[in-house]
Amino acid sequence: MAVMTGSEPGSRPLLNRRLAPFGTTIFAEMSALAARTGAINLGQGFPDTDGPEEIREAAVRALRDGRGNQYPPGPGVPELRTAVTAHQQRRYGLSYDPDTEVLVTAGATEAVAAALLALVGPGDEVIALEPYYDSYAANIAMAGGTRVPVTLRPHEGVFRLDLDELRAAVTPRTRLILLNTPHNPTGTVLTRDELAAVAALAVERDLLVVTDEVYEHLVFEGEHLPLAGFPGMRDRTVTVSSAGKTFSFTGWKVGWLTASPALVTAVRSVKQFLTYVSAGPFQYAVAEALRLPDSYFDDLRTDLRAKRDLLSEGLAAAGFAVHRPAGTYFVTTDIRPLGERDGFAFCRALPERCGVVAVPNAVFYDDREQGAPFVRFAFCKRTAVLEEAVSRLGTLKP
Ligand SMILES: Cc1ncc(COP(=O)(O)O)c(C=O)c1O
Repeated sequence: MAVMTGSEPGSRPLLNRRLAPFGTTIFAEMSALAARTGAINLGQGFPDTDGPEEIREAAVRALRDGRGNQYPPGPGVPELRTAVTAHQQRRYGLSYDPDTEVLVTAGATEAVAAALLALVGPGDEVIALEPYYDSYAANIAMAGGTRVPVTLRPHEGVFRLDLDELRAAVTPRTRLILLNTPHNPTGTVLTRDELAAVAALAVERDLLVVTDEVYEHLVFEGEHLPLAGFPGMRDRTVTVSSAGKTFSFTGWKVGWLTASPALVTAVRSVKQFLTYVSAGPFQYAVAEALRLPDSYFDDLRTDLRAKRDLLSEGLAAAGFAVHRPAGTYFVTTDIRPLGERDGFAFCRALPERCGVVAVPNAVFYDDREQGAPFVRFAFCKRTAVLEEAVSRLGTLKP
């Protein structure tokens, strides 16, 4: 994408050299396109209905009662830290100390950024699964690290991690593996065997792992297994999650990480100079959300599974090759059966052609050619909206 670094006459570019390759995110561009053309926005991953009423009320109560209106404690309010540890115990049987092994952050975005800035230094290599969420590459660059992509490749309709490629990517300079499962944008959920292999590699080569598990509750096939639960991983893994996707409050930006006391201390040293703290009253509300009964999480999954099927089938009927996701609320398609090759051009034209916005997966690749034929659609939208999108996309077929 074109980068506007801006410069004064005779002076150097304004934007820090490390960040020069990163322009405006594609989401801003595509959402602006949606607004301008009145198209249905299946580009950016945010739900078009808010999360549970009782959790919104919990936030209102906290505001009214004066809980969190002033700086909350640096690591997060104790209620939320305890709720996070109870959640990890209840769902996964993982024990963490709420006082020393949890850090509340401004969304998962800050958790990943602070972790990378804390743990990665100039010259360190960071292995990340490509295609990757767009903030990862920028964060690695901010830390002065070098990113080493390991590409998930389509195999029988599913994007898979090649464990030999992962193994081969490790060098004496590798500091950290940055994992993401369930994986945005491909919808891949790493299996028990794959995670066990990643864990064994991390132990063998003495690597740290930052694992972004924000879609942990959006799994339709298989199950989500936190990497931290595998042998030898408890004390070398920073596990990141957030309230945005699980509770449909992406604007609240309440995230957290769990890790050993030493790792939490290191990451907190950075986090205190980024936001210090954030979202005081919302932290109390998210503490309540994490304690919702299992039926909440089951209903969320059931609802999104039906939406996945609706959109996937509609896209297939419209002529796309569909990589049906096992998790997340994104579906990646291949546009080649439509006679198209360039996802960028396709996505830029799509609002005019049929009134739908999608995102070209190429933006998630270092090697843009690799990602060129793939386009991502989000299905975290009302059923009627998805039905309308499917009907519009149906007009594309030659
Ligand atoms: C993989 C991944 N990580 C992190 C985030 C951002 O999470 P948050 O809104 O909690 O910062 C997203 C949002 O799309 C995501 O897809």
